[in-house]
Amino acid sequence: MTVEKYHSSARLLHWLIAILAILNIALGLLHDPLEKVVQLIPLHKSIGLSVLVLTLVRIALRMIWKKPPLPGSVTPLERAVAWGTHMLLYVLLLALPLTGWVFSSAGKYPLSFFGLFDWPKLPISKDGPFAGPAHEAHEVLGFVMLALVVLHVAAALRHHFVLKDDILRRML
Ligand code: HEM
Ligand code: HEM
Repeated sequence: MTVEKYHSSARLLHWLIAILAILNIALGLLHDPLEKVVQLIPLHKSIGLSVLVLTLVRIALRMIWKKPPLPGSVTPLERAVAWGTHMLLYVLLLALPLTGWVFSSAGKYPLSFFGLFDWPKLPISKDGPFAGPAHEAHEVLGFVMLALVVLHVAAALRHHFVLKDDILRRML
């Protein structure tokens, strides 16, 4: 039986963004303990800004392509939870890079994009009303994203290995 899959651009962007976002959570959490060995934050910032651009492209395309319909075995509650989780993941894929961009704009270091060019800084000052809250939000949202990704991956694996339906295959 053939599986109705997500659009190829949706699948490509899903996996590219998933790898970059998971890598960036790890880099964000490891930068402090590894500070004396290696500077991870410049890479973290460049990857995060890439996630912002790729997510904007992905959301624009998502307005165009349709998601394949879920199988009838998925209950209304499961549909609602999946929808809510996906929406929150999209929000976090924008909110994490944006808060990072805001508070890093107030810092003394230039925002370099993989050493290729300087990413523009926002007109944010260290003592203004935005830098502090953006920094705190970035830290809290990083952990919220980690928790949601664990939930999301657990759900995908449950569909594949326990319920043995095509939900994961639609995204491969
Ligand atoms: C997918 C995008 C991103 C994710 C998932 C992410 C996640 C994280 C996480 C989990 C931390 C560690 C928080 C903590 O332990 O306190 C962190 C720290 C940090 N992030 Fe991000 N981040 C992203 C994008 C960005 C961007 C675009 C920038 C800047 C342009 C940025 C700048 C920073 C900085 C400077 C820190 C260190 C903060 C500190 O040690 O006080 N992040 N990030
Ligand atoms: C940071 C990591 C990840 C993020 C941010 C993420 C985000 C998302 C989002 C936003 C959607 C909704 C797509 C749409 O309908 O517009 C989605 C769907 C999906 N994701 Fe992920 N994902 C991540 C990692 C993973 C991983 C590791 C797996 C597999 C183990 C996975 C499996 C799936 C599957 C199977 C779907 C389709 C669900 C359905 O058909 O309703 N994702 N993901």
